[in-house]
Amino acid sequence: MSDVDPSELLALCKRRGFIWPSFEIYGGVAGMFDYGPLGCALRNNIVDVWRAIYKGREGFVEIDSETVNPREVFKASGHVDEFSDLITYCKACGAPFRADHLVKGFYDNPDVLSPEELEEAFAEHGIKCPECGGDLGKVEEFNLMFKTTIGPGSSRVGYLRPETAQGIFVNYSNLYRYNREKLPLGVIQTGRGYRNEIAPRQGMIRMREFNMMEVELFVSPEDKDWPRFPEIEGCEITLVPNTTCEPVTMTVGEAVSKGIIANRVLAYFVYTTKQLLERLGIDPQRLRFRQHLADEMAHYAADCWDAEVLLSYGWIEITGIADRGCWDLSRHAEFSGQDLTHFIRFDEPVEMEVERIRAKHKALGPRFKGRAKDIAAAMESKEASDVRDGKLVLQIDGETVELTEEYFEIVRAKEKVAGKRVIPHVIEPSHGLDRIFYSVLEHAYDRDSEEGYTVLRLRPEVAPIKAGVFPLMEKDGMDDIARSIYSKLHASGVESYYDGSGTIGKRYARMDEAGTPFCITVDYQTKEDGTVTIRDRDTKAQRRIPAEDAERVLRALIAGADFASA
Ligand code: ATP
Ligand code: GLY
Repeated sequence: MSDVDPSELLALCKRRGFIWPSFEIYGGVAGMFDYGPLGCALRNNIVDVWRAIYKGREGFVEIDSETVNPREVFKASGHVDEFSDLITYCKACGAPFRADHLVKGFYDNPDVLSPEELEEAFAEHGIKCPECGGDLGKVEEFNLMFKTTIGPGSSRVGYLRPETAQGIFVNYSNLYRYNREKLPLGVIQTGRGYRNEIAPRQGMIRMREFNMMEVELFVSPEDKDWPRFPEIEGCEITLVPNTTCEPVTMTVGEAVSKGIIANRVLAYFVYTTKQLLERLGIDPQRLRFRQHLADEMAHYAADCWDAEVLLSYGWIEITGIADRGCWDLSRHAEFSGQDLTHFIRFDEPVEMEVERIRAKHKALGPRFKGRAKDIAAAMESKEASDVRDGKLVLQIDGETVELTEEYFEIVRAKEKVAGKRVIPHVIEPSHGLDRIFYSVLEHAYDRDSEEGYTVLRLRPEVAPIKAGVFPLMEKDGMDDIARSIYSKLHASGVESYYDGSGTIGKRYARMDEAGTPFCITVDYQTKEDGTVTIRDRDTKAQRRIPAEDAERVLRALIAGADFASA
């Protein structure tokens, strides 16, 4: 386990303006945090790296959907019925607890226990209320979604979204059209998710309002491959498969060929998650990918891997990468009555026996009169698979028309068909932005052995401030030169910080604690030859560069160039 004391790190975050407990002047609310100036900048930089990978490298598109959704969305997605944790209240003091958390020490995987098994576990292990020692009550399901109403009155029930993913699924038809009806179709979205967690704790690990970076990749169920897979198949990754539950390092190619990761596209995005997290500054030695046990998988998942990082709290999931199969689109197709399929065109037409809907004109005429012809045409344009429980639902001129088998029949015929319709499968890397943010900070947290102060060794690409700019002293024009360097850097988008107060040592310490990778100092020599010193936070190496090169050198260093030669 890491030796960082999370309360010290949270104190640093508060002092330096990374994060603040929300509503602190009113006593705060558990599980809620606000991002300060440095926190916002770090968080934005993390999002930018994620975007550069998915939009820039992989060509995905980005959307932004609503956070309040009508009940229908979450009824279809399964969240209304399935998205709950097990709760128990203390019979004496009334405090609520997540029931599986209370038995953690006794079971490897307590979140698969049923309410009855948890009640038995309380009795068997003598588990009482951690607050007052009282007896615990019945274990019940507690839905984690925040409920609301849309508009005045209570006519339309809505929920705050517990994941951004559904906003992408309900827009599938729009996205599919936008992508000119082609798969694969990759979509990203970042934004807030809300979960009314029973027991928020462990700082930013369990929040009630949190930030997500979600990726939904729609693929054909018949093509679970990825064109760039050969680039990474020889790369190593540490996996904890659900068969052995032991960490093992192997190549991505081996993981697929041995059937450990279900398919190449899922494996590619498991590895992409590793690349992303390491680029953000997660220590590779404290990163592993754990496969969900069969009974641990979410209601939608066919295979699921968690990126877990070792923090002071133990191994914590920060990203879940799931093969959601056809769950999402088939459910939304079923509940909305819309066609959410993809057409796979055969190389050449194939003769096959197909099922077709034939309208019964004699029955339609008396009921629908002048509209019967249009309704018959709409029926016959549907697939036999659209008939569910003997009923066919049509949308005609904004009206929903439900037809029973009295009005149609299914006939079999031999036809030459050009292709077939399938429901796309979804591969989903779902990143918890706040957990990644916290993990990046914890893995960057260090103590300078010589000076004895705290240093955040944030990678230059994500560091909120890239350079501190100092005059040796605020006199003799050195301050004017330093301010002008600062202004130019700031205006060009290289985030910098001017600091003229205190000794240079104190100013370095302040910047080191804020995670600033480089400092530029203006001294008397600058006035003579126009050069400044640049200092590297981690090695403390210094060199002189022309002041006018500061932006170019910093950009090169941020991109990973060698300090001595940039
Ligand atoms: P956990 O089991 O820890 O509650 P989860 O399995 O419910 O997490 P997912 O539903 O897979 O999490 O959500 C995707 C990601 O969102 C997680 O990997 C995590 O980083 C983040 N996340 C989920 N719940 C929270 C929360 N309450 N606070 C902060 N981040 C969260
Ligand atoms: N979208 C995945 C999750 O929130 O669980």
